[in-house]
Amino acid sequence: MQNYFASRCFLKHNLDFPPLICSVKNTEKIGAIKMIVKNFFMHLSENQLLNKAAQNYGFKLGAHSVVAGTNIEEAMGSIKELNAQGISCTIDNLGEFVHDKAEALHAKKQILGVVDAIHAHQVDAHISLKPSQLGLDIDYDFCLENIKEIVEKASAFDIFINFDMENYARLQPSFDLLEELSKDYDNIGTVIQSYFFRAEEDIQKYSKYRLRIVKGAYKEPEAVAYQTKEEIDANFIELIEYHLLNGKFTSIATHDHNVINHVKQFVIDHSIPKEKFEFQMLYGFRKEMQLELAEQGYNFCTYIPFGTDWYGYFMRRLAERPQNLNLVVKQVFTKKTNAAIGVVAGAFLLGRLTSKRF
Ligand code: FDA
Repeated sequence: MQNYFASRCFLKHNLDFPPLICSVKNTEKIGAIKMIVKNFFMHLSENQLLNKAAQNYGFKLGAHSVVAGTNIEEAMGSIKELNAQGISCTIDNLGEFVHDKAEALHAKKQILGVVDAIHAHQVDAHISLKPSQLGLDIDYDFCLENIKEIVEKASAFDIFINFDMENYARLQPSFDLLEELSKDYDNIGTVIQSYFFRAEEDIQKYSKYRLRIVKGAYKEPEAVAYQTKEEIDANFIELIEYHLLNGKFTSIATHDHNVINHVKQFVIDHSIPKEKFEFQMLYGFRKEMQLELAEQGYNFCTYIPFGTDWYGYFMRRLAERPQNLNLVVKQVFTKKTNAAIGVVAGAFLLGRLTSKRF
């Protein structure tokens, strides 16, 4: 098995990357600017003060385009529309920076409510949860009990629960939760983040699980993670191919058409049936492509984030793709009221840039 990876080198996939139209020097400059912008939004995503402030501002700065409502009933509307188009959903009750037990218990109650809602509405959907939201940073056993209650209830309704993967510090504890709970339940799976050096080992170790494979959304140090797009993309492909050939069900979670096209050809070449995998994208992104893939007969699943705690999620989306700033700009400059909020928020954000927190 190890040889599958060892025998393959980076960049041999000849992915359709954009042509080199800039000089090396300009490319370096653009790369550096992109990295600064990315780091800027990653820092913002980790700022608890702004997270709290955003909850008080309400649904502003364009977040409504990528967050499907502030409560589960609103989200259900979007889910039913997508289901009607042949698209299944995975629901994320947004929540971050949980540092006390009361907050974690509140999150558990809300997610149990999502389980009930999926069952009551009979929608084609499962749940994505973040261990930190259920108390991982407070106490491992407390978190385990909280997740167990959710998994148990979901299991009774035959609903799958995905453990989203967060930053490196939470990686092994999240795998431990999965292994512990899989002794009693089989309706669980998790995520492999391709930027981690250890992802190759992890995907082999956890191949019996349904896995979502992603590039990775957090800022991780050079000691543990690939830093360049080329290395991450190449590893992403390697891991997807490995799990398609050797693992249980594979969720290929990406908006990258190069990767999607590569997978389409790979499954044909290796006679992998469509029941063995699905494509996943985030709510609000590449909507036409989501529909097109579903219409082409591929299993397709849209990730549906909802809730008032949208700030960290939204900032990570801006970090990944600064073009998503269009969402902010449109929102800020189309309405006078939002313009005022935009100016205040903009000043606030810039102020934080130079503060000691960063
Ligand atoms: P990437 O952002 O690298 O873009 C590659 C190329 O695709 C771009 O250059 C562009 O050409 C095209 N493209 C991308 N977005 C586009 C758009 N909106 N419109 C037009 N073209 C576009 N991460 C994590 O750490 N833990 C997790 O649990 C999850 N879970 C998760 C679930 C789902 C359903 C998704 C889709 C993603 C995640 N992620 C995640 C996030 C993931 O790790 C990654 O950060 C983002 O998906 C961004 O990477 P992409 O592979 O989408 O393409």
